[in-house]
Amino acid sequence: MSETLERWQSRRAFILAVTGAAVGLGNIWRFPYMTGENGGSAFLLLYVVFVVLLGLPMMMAEIMIGRAGRRSPMQALAFLAEEADISRHWKWLGLFGAITVFFILSFYSVVSGWSIEYLVSAVNGSFVNRSPQEIGASFDAFLADPLRMTFNHTLFMLLTMSVVAAGIVNGIEKLNNVMMPLLYGILIVLGGYAVTTSGFGAAMHWLFTPDVSAITWGVVLNAMGHAFFTLAVGACALMAYGAYMPDEQSLPRAVFGVAMLDIMVALLSGIAIFSIVFTHGLDPSEGPGLMFVTLPIAFSELPGGQVWLGAFFLLLLIATWTSSINLAEPMVSMLVGAGWRRSRAAILIGGLVWLVGLLSVLSFSTLADVHWIGEMNFFALVSTIPPDIFLPVGGLLIAIFAAWKMSREAAVAALGVSPGAFRLWLGLVRYVSIPLTAVVLVTSLI
Ligand code: TRP
Repeated sequence: MSETLERWQSRRAFILAVTGAAVGLGNIWRFPYMTGENGGSAFLLLYVVFVVLLGLPMMMAEIMIGRAGRRSPMQALAFLAEEADISRHWKWLGLFGAITVFFILSFYSVVSGWSIEYLVSAVNGSFVNRSPQEIGASFDAFLADPLRMTFNHTLFMLLTMSVVAAGIVNGIEKLNNVMMPLLYGILIVLGGYAVTTSGFGAAMHWLFTPDVSAITWGVVLNAMGHAFFTLAVGACALMAYGAYMPDEQSLPRAVFGVAMLDIMVALLSGIAIFSIVFTHGLDPSEGPGLMFVTLPIAFSELPGGQVWLGAFFLLLLIATWTSSINLAEPMVSMLVGAGWRRSRAAILIGGLVWLVGLLSVLSFSTLADVHWIGEMNFFALVSTIPPDIFLPVGGLLIAIFAAWKMSREAAVAALGVSPGAFRLWLGLVRYVSIPLTAVVLVTSLI
């Protein structure tokens, strides 16, 4: 099995793949709206702290396991458990990760479908000379239309699964090479525009003046979950990518660069979106629709705004595409590892995810008031519990396996660092990342 595994063609390809997995809706859509709902600067501060203390070391742990196992996540865990002569039940962690990405992908595809809709609307000039109220109303009208949403969700699942079915290494490498730099370019233009708006000062104040009084356990849990989500850590999805990593590459260096870029992209879109929010007196805690209302408003004021807006949604679509491919990979590689043909595995998984995604589609119309837990409808449930609870639990187990359970030699070799740096990483995971994650999880759930 391990000999037949694909390999990224270069170090750059691996970095781009992990960047493609990390940068997506989490940065551009979820980060601003979560920040808005969780009191602004308090959330931002905690998120950065969690990325550094938990996200980074656990990201290394996860990729390292994949690279040491050189198999699909479940098989890699089983193989490494056997090697270290510990319980083979660790392999179920791979299944838990697959379940987590299953639910995440089901809503991710629906929201990515919104970008397809907005790409088409922008190109058609639907937002030209519209008032902010009209733009808000057109988003609500779109959400209330399950057929249009299903159409876009279907299209997005087809895009994702066709690349996954073809084998990800070739597919993703090509996509990432061209598209990611373009996306950053547009975000920088958008940031530049934000500086000129009257709400820029208020946005900066709101984002960067720490307000400790706004910190509650709920905010802490959300910020921790978001750190995992945005780095794509905790569901064995990066483990699947680690299996394809070239031998000679430095893992910490690759991971560090990706994490910094990921924070930069989130900050840039946060600054842009909140400048627009404050300029137009919109509500920062508007929720999942935040980006889809603010950006058309901003671009409708820029010269050539429709072109910029169209380009933005096109690039966002590509960023979400490379993320959703990563979300699908652990499920598909699990079946491939069990002897399935890749294309069949992709069709089955894609079909099931699509089906469950319909519940998210309907959560904005027919099923809006069907509550599953507390006040949460299906969309609220799947966009909260898997990212905020399943990912930290998965990350915790991955870290325990990497830092306490697997063979030390295998870990050193796969991490590819000097003995001193290895001890630093090990100490950080054992005595900071693991206890901190456990404490936050347990306390905030109580
Ligand atoms: N990080 C991606 C984003 O920010 C989402 C994502 C991709 C993800 N792969 C993942 C989240 C694996 C959890 C696990 O949009």
